[in-house]
Amino acid sequence: MTFTGPLSNRYTDLVGIVHPIVQEGLGPFRTSKLAAAVSSAGGLGTVSMPGMPADLDAGARTFREHIDECASLTDKPFAVNIPVGVDGNGVVLPFTDVYIRTVLSARRADSTLAKQLTVMTTSAGFPGDYISMIKNAGMVHQHKVGSTHQAVKAADAGVDVVIAAGFEMGGHAPSKAVHSYVLLPSVTEAVDIPVLLTGGARDARGLASALSMGADGVAMGTRFIASTSNSDWHPAYVKAILDATEGDDVAFDGVYGPCRGLRNAASLMLTNHQDEGGEIRDAVELTRWKIESMQRAQTDGDIVGGLVLTGQVASAIHDIIDIAEFVPRMAAGAADILRRLAASFPATTPARA
Ligand SMILES: Cc1cc2nc3c(=O)[nH]c(=O)nc-3n(C[C@H](O)[C@H](O)[C@H](O)COP(=O)(O)O)c2cc1C
Repeated sequence: MTFTGPLSNRYTDLVGIVHPIVQEGLGPFRTSKLAAAVSSAGGLGTVSMPGMPADLDAGARTFREHIDECASLTDKPFAVNIPVGVDGNGVVLPFTDVYIRTVLSARRADSTLAKQLTVMTTSAGFPGDYISMIKNAGMVHQHKVGSTHQAVKAADAGVDVVIAAGFEMGGHAPSKAVHSYVLLPSVTEAVDIPVLLTGGARDARGLASALSMGADGVAMGTRFIASTSNSDWHPAYVKAILDATEGDDVAFDGVYGPCRGLRNAASLMLTNHQDEGGEIRDAVELTRWKIESMQRAQTDGDIVGGLVLTGQVASAIHDIIDIAEFVPRMAAGAADILRRLAASFPATTPARA
């Protein structure tokens, strides 16, 4: 069934949504309510990677719980995000395989869920053999890339959608540090499959400009955290986003490379390449400490000693949005901008390169 919105296109048709607006993965957190709200509003919500507990079976159960909660709150399609990157020792983190298999077996076991949980987004590294596994399961595979080379490699390997990630994005950012305005047109030029922009978008203007650079939609993170449908996030975290000003963000040494968040005691310690007290030497332990520090900020509101992941765009976000109202308004606003711009030039104006 095709749903028509003001900006319906090949991407919205592919994933069965109304507006080309995605809430991208915001792990290691619970984002079931947020994902359901975005999907119900006509965009595509994403259930995030839930963390990296020592007991991965427990992690898989938590992930499944988050997926079931999202499915119980919306009847629309939604996605899951699973990072597939390697740690400081070049090893794919053990949760990757467990979480991907958890999703695939949940879909196999529940045909109603399989009709809703139709999109898997991978990130933070090349998905390799997981591509055929995801495709053979009948899911749409989106993959987040940080360079044109990675986009071409992913498209050639068979992913359905690439998400071009600009360096200003919140969370793990591309190691080549290319920003959205440079990266996006290069990626859309280089691949034929649908492309989403992630990094820096917050409103109709961002969506309109992404579309004008050849993208099929935007995938936002930080903007959606400051929303009313988002009761999983600690209010202190949301307030930190609302209060942020330009220059308050920093890229520190994250789990898979650079990671963007607010400048505070925790992120500065990692910027200086020091772990807590200089005592955590084991790479897996340090990874676990980083992931737990991210969760401490989100669940306990520790915005000084925890890692507060946000994009640069936090400095431009000063209001709490109602997602049901925001998503359709953003799409309609972008369509309006594009129409007004087109109408403002005489039809005889020669096309510019
Ligand atoms: C709090 C937070 C957590 C994130 N966690 C993940 C994650 O688990 N996996 C992932 O692929 N991207 C993650 N990201 C990146 C987002 O999916 C998205 O690409 C990014 O927020 C886009 O940039 P923006 O914040 O400027 O919208 C995270 C971003 C934030 C702000």
